[in-house]
Amino acid sequence: MINLAIFASGNGSNFEAIAKAVANEEIKANIKVLICDKPKAYVIERAKKYNILTCVFSLKKYGSKEKYEEAIVKVLKELNVDLICLAGYMKICGETLLNNYKNKIINIHPALLPAFKGAHAIIDAYNYGVKVYGVTIHYVNQEIDGGKIISQGVIDYNEGDTLEQIEEKIHKLEHKLYVQTINKLIKEGI
Ligand code: GAR
Repeated sequence: MINLAIFASGNGSNFEAIAKAVANEEIKANIKVLICDKPKAYVIERAKKYNILTCVFSLKKYGSKEKYEEAIVKVLKELNVDLICLAGYMKICGETLLNNYKNKIINIHPALLPAFKGAHAIIDAYNYGVKVYGVTIHYVNQEIDGGKIISQGVIDYNEGDTLEQIEEKIHKLEHKLYVQTINKLIKEGI
């Protein structure tokens, strides 16, 4: 079975969707570790519920992105991690992480890339007035939200939907698409 690491910074609903799918064997993989960069993030509570090892790394403590990522990579190597899934991890991956896990890091983004890159994609799309909303899962490279697309999905948008309704539909789709996409990669041998 392949070994996953999930990186998250906040709420962790995508983390939990993956953890749930692993727990009921919808995804045949191990989640070896949750890597979190925020000691108070709610995702840590979710990991406890699923008995998943959590490692919190503070960039401040390490002083540089390089040292911070070296410490993370050390843990990932010890745990024989095969695939890194970014799930609301709000840091840019640096060279250390990218060079050690080339084409082994994937990210979920709440918009149809290449539109609406960045940290506020849903509200940016809403303010723009788009009529088609969706989610993208892509490989992570040095270009922010710019790696090769693996999968995309669209929500069932109705004219007049509120921002809250759109967010809810997007998150629901994210949870489904992330599980499907991890399974697709496992099937293809990653
Ligand atoms: C998700 O919507 C994810 O797509 C987004 O952060 C949210 C995390 O939610 N990521 C990005 O915007 C990356 N650019 P969660 O913590 O509940 O999984």
